[in-house]
Amino acid sequence: MNSEEALSLVCKLFTTKYEMPLTPLEQEIIRQSWEGREYKDMQIAGYSSAYVKTNIAPELWKKISKVLGVTVGKKNLRVVFHNLPWEKFSTKLETRKEFVHNWQNMSDLEIFGRDQELATLQKWILQDECRLVAISGMAGIGKTTLTGNLLQRLASNQEVRFANIIWLSLENEPTLESLLTELIDLLAPQQCLVPSIGNLIYHLRLHRYLIIFDAVENIFAKASLAGKYRQGYESYGNLFKQVSKSQHQSCLLLTSIEIPREISVLVGNNSPVRLLKLQGLAIQPAKEIFRNRGLTEEGNWENMINLYRGNPLALKMLAIMIWELFNGKVGNFLAENTIFIGQILDLLDKQFVRLSNLELQLIYWLANIKEPVNFTYLCLHFEPNISKSEIITVLESLVMRSLIEKNLENDEFLFSLQPVIQKYVRNYYTK
Ligand SMILES: Nc1ncnc2c1ncn2[C@@H]1O[C@H](COP(=O)(O)OP(=O)(O)OP(=O)(O)O)[C@@H](O)[C@H]1O
Ligand SMILES: [Mg+2]
Repeated sequence: MNSEEALSLVCKLFTTKYEMPLTPLEQEIIRQSWEGREYKDMQIAGYSSAYVKTNIAPELWKKISKVLGVTVGKKNLRVVFHNLPWEKFSTKLETRKEFVHNWQNMSDLEIFGRDQELATLQKWILQDECRLVAISGMAGIGKTTLTGNLLQRLASNQEVRFANIIWLSLENEPTLESLLTELIDLLAPQQCLVPSIGNLIYHLRLHRYLIIFDAVENIFAKASLAGKYRQGYESYGNLFKQVSKSQHQSCLLLTSIEIPREISVLVGNNSPVRLLKLQGLAIQPAKEIFRNRGLTEEGNWENMINLYRGNPLALKMLAIMIWELFNGKVGNFLAENTIFIGQILDLLDKQFVRLSNLELQLIYWLANIKEPVNFTYLCLHFEPNISKSEIITVLESLVMRSLIEKNLENDEFLFSLQPVIQKYVRNYYTK
């Protein structure tokens, strides 16, 4: 172990475990003590050695001793550090790494279509220099795949220069503090900065970074309206607001099934905040999924793609099933006149645990009526138990989650469920 390694270990312990980062002065005392310097020989700009010795050092050794659980001073620093059971602290240090994703090694980046979406995202990030870009859409619609492909394009473009591209997955539900600790440590290694939003913005201003938060829906509450934070995660709202509003040269890219309210209100064509609502694949690229998996009878494919609204994950699962049970013949499957839910169940379960009670009530009702309905008809059914304004809020939330379809007819919207969701609610979903 050398002085920098030792310093880095202590720094990490202080920031992660005790939220008390070491100051640059304290770090310098540790570094020079490690080199075996007496206080009188220490050279620290702006501080006399007497001041360091009497006012700073004693408190510093006390703090380190407390953190490590052994008495540490200038003289025994090296011995203690070499003999410490670091594995005891390592879980604390290691767990922080679990949500950093090495996107360069991402597999399964097969992508059909999405040229327009990729072009839009590139324009927003490079030309329009947006500070925050969000990609929203149903589970399995292709948010992560699109983002991975975007990064590969950006990384292979010689003209694009980011100081760093960092991908963090929120799958494991990190609190804002642990996420900031990780992120700031990646942006400014070994500087032991406080994991604050202010420090993050400072670095976003200093250099041009592209930072990805994937699977952001995990910080939102289940069984609630879309975009409501889980308890203890509300401070993410501040982060999104400040990244959107402060001056800096970086971009935060989010993928999420639900979009935070702070972001929805800031989105606009001339705003540095943009939202891409990802829809299903168009017919031609969706056909590539079937073609690639050896399905036959292409004349029937379009029907199937429409039925599943071009959701690539659903189409992939469907293709596997048709291959295994119908020898790849789509016509044979369609002749059965059934909507296959099978493994798509997981995908829908993932969406449905997120819904509030009122959202479920409305969806349940929609699943059991025959025709799409307008707003007035819908209100007639639910009033007076549920007020109009509540119905509006719930509808808005469901549209935001892409669970309800709205079609314009005679100048008004008609609301309905897509066939797969209708079947899921009727046959599989138990309230
Ligand atoms: N454009 C595409 N062409 C081919 N396959 C795709 C495309 N987009 C997504 N897929 C496939 O669909 C599946 C789901 O994609 P992905 O994981 O990107 O969805 P997601 O929106 O991130 O889902 P979740 O909300 O569950 O995170 C993956 O198997 C992926 O390979
Ligand atoms: Mg994803």
